[in-house]
Amino acid sequence: MWDFPLLPEAASSTAAEVDALFWLLIGVAAFFGGIITAGLVYFNIRYRKNSKASRAGAVSEHLPLELLWSIVPLVISAGIFGWGAKLYFDMHVPPEHAREVYVVAKQWMWKIQHPQGNREINELHVPVGVPIKLVMTSQDVIHSFFVPAFRVKQDVLPGRYTTTWFEATKPGEYHLFCAEYCGTSHASMKGRVVVMKQEEFERWLAGSRLAEPMTASGDQLFRQFGCVTCHSQTSQERGPSLHGLFGSTVRLADGSTVTADERYIRESILNPGGALVAGYKPLMPTYAQQMSQEQLFQIIEYIKSLGGPQIAGERKNP
Ligand code: CUA
Repeated sequence: MWDFPLLPEAASSTAAEVDALFWLLIGVAAFFGGIITAGLVYFNIRYRKNSKASRAGAVSEHLPLELLWSIVPLVISAGIFGWGAKLYFDMHVPPEHAREVYVVAKQWMWKIQHPQGNREINELHVPVGVPIKLVMTSQDVIHSFFVPAFRVKQDVLPGRYTTTWFEATKPGEYHLFCAEYCGTSHASMKGRVVVMKQEEFERWLAGSRLAEPMTASGDQLFRQFGCVTCHSQTSQERGPSLHGLFGSTVRLADGSTVTADERYIRESILNPGGALVAGYKPLMPTYAQQMSQEQLFQIIEYIKSLGGPQIAGERKNP
């Protein structure tokens, strides 16, 4: 049997559709490329210099033909665009209930932490059949998180968060690569994604837990950095309470509104004046020099966990 692997193994919920779109593009390109090449060769030979083929009746204008070769490619390319855009959004927007994992890239390794506390380096354990959302950042240069079997590739940038998601469909081990040239050992910045059955994954999660849950680390940092002095439910004079903040809509001092996601919280910690909440003075100092990327993720995870009612008189969300 002929089993030369044209494509990597397909092991995620979107892989089949990505491949289908890929083959459609190849098919369309090959079809039209074939017709044009064949025509080129045929006419070159038939009407070569000194050939006896008749040149009479050459067409110089043909409106229906021109419409045909304008409209047909338009329909085809618009169709490909529409499908590509739909697939792009599907791959870009994680499902609501996705399980989150935090990723910090650095020269030259992948540092991963699960909300339950488990840390990994160059390895990512995930359960099969569960959407996994990765919140990623870099502590130095641009890297790119690439798992060919999942058809997932997302740049990981210093100074901001990028996210991607996937749902693995087959237990097994898959290559993880860095797909952005990032210095001397770029080629060895690789690892593996281990996809496990649900029960196995839960066992792994319980068995390899050497660190406390991220919310607990975040809680501790929240006190250690003194955040709690201004952001408690009883000190609303200086800073807004953070209960129920995550996912809510925040009105800023300049009248605009933002959704309080990971990016917004990160920005508020590192550049507090940049997104001042309406009704508050710019009292908060920046923590840009003091917190590591991991600590930021832990504080964000802690703030996310602060559900609960906002008490009366607090920052009102529209
Ligand atoms: Cu990191 Cu290449």
